[in-house]
Amino acid sequence: MNEAQYIWMDGTLVPWADAKVHVLTHTLHYGNAVFEGTRAYQTQKGLAIFKLEEHTKRLYNSAKIVAIEPNIDYESVKNAHIELLEANHFSQNVYLRPLIYLGYGQMGIYHKKVPVNTMIAAWEWGAYLGADGLEKGITTCTSSITRNPNRSTFGKAKAAANYLNSQMAKYEAIENGFDEALMLDENGFIAEGTGECVFIVRDGKLISPPNDNSLESITQATVLELAKDMGIVVERRNITRDEVYIADECFLTGTAAEVTPVASLDHRVIGSGSRGPVTEKLQSAYFDVVYGRNPKYEHYLTYIQK
Ligand SMILES: Cc1ncc(COP(=O)(O)O)c(C=O)c1O
Repeated sequence: MNEAQYIWMDGTLVPWADAKVHVLTHTLHYGNAVFEGTRAYQTQKGLAIFKLEEHTKRLYNSAKIVAIEPNIDYESVKNAHIELLEANHFSQNVYLRPLIYLGYGQMGIYHKKVPVNTMIAAWEWGAYLGADGLEKGITTCTSSITRNPNRSTFGKAKAAANYLNSQMAKYEAIENGFDEALMLDENGFIAEGTGECVFIVRDGKLISPPNDNSLESITQATVLELAKDMGIVVERRNITRDEVYIADECFLTGTAAEVTPVASLDHRVIGSGSRGPVTEKLQSAYFDVVYGRNPKYEHYLTYIQK
């Protein structure tokens, strides 16, 4: 773990080692919390958070969905991301993890009267699926775990409880020798990765499933915007695992995973088995945006003044 100096807890900057909770913290037992995964990049004008507004909005939407009343208002939490990065000393790219959780004070499943807490941590974190993965692509398998069905859980929320599924799918994939898992929805269509949305390229068209069975991904939206700029034809429709096998290219998008090519699925090599030309173009455009090299999208960046 790349420790930093401070973690923001309920309005206070706390030294990293002191940022602790009680063992009877409600979320530890029943799993209800909401969080974000946000990145800040070292641009030519210094560290900048990518799409802070979008991430904060999704955090508060997630809280609404799982019936948690945040203890701190939207603007204060948004600004706390900036305050935290100003207080810490980072020389690399940074991952930010805000979490609104149910704290200490009352046990039992009914959560309405449990105190709510908010924290934000930030630490230096490189490529989630490896620097090599960004260039050469990763191996994937179809998970035996179905993506959380909409009848049981809330897929529009980035809720901690949703990640038991992702964690089990990721565990199974890694233990079986793959880098990542693709989960199917209840109808057998590709839903999402354990922390990413899925794209394929077929005959020059870019295809990504609708968000009915995936998180409304902020990276996916950025890539779709960039594809539009490039005049790439985009389709939002269901895809099956065998369509991925025969696709020309496949890649995953996520704040952590960025734009990561998929080299194979279930031992079927996809296209050339490496990063395809459309993936490369979109990946390069994505990095231009997050590193502040594309003025058209600079409004997505929140620069940290030191
Ligand atoms: C399950 C899941 N799907 C998709 C994504 C991609 O979302 P985003 O691009 O907003 O990070 C994530 C990551 O947050 C995720 O955890």
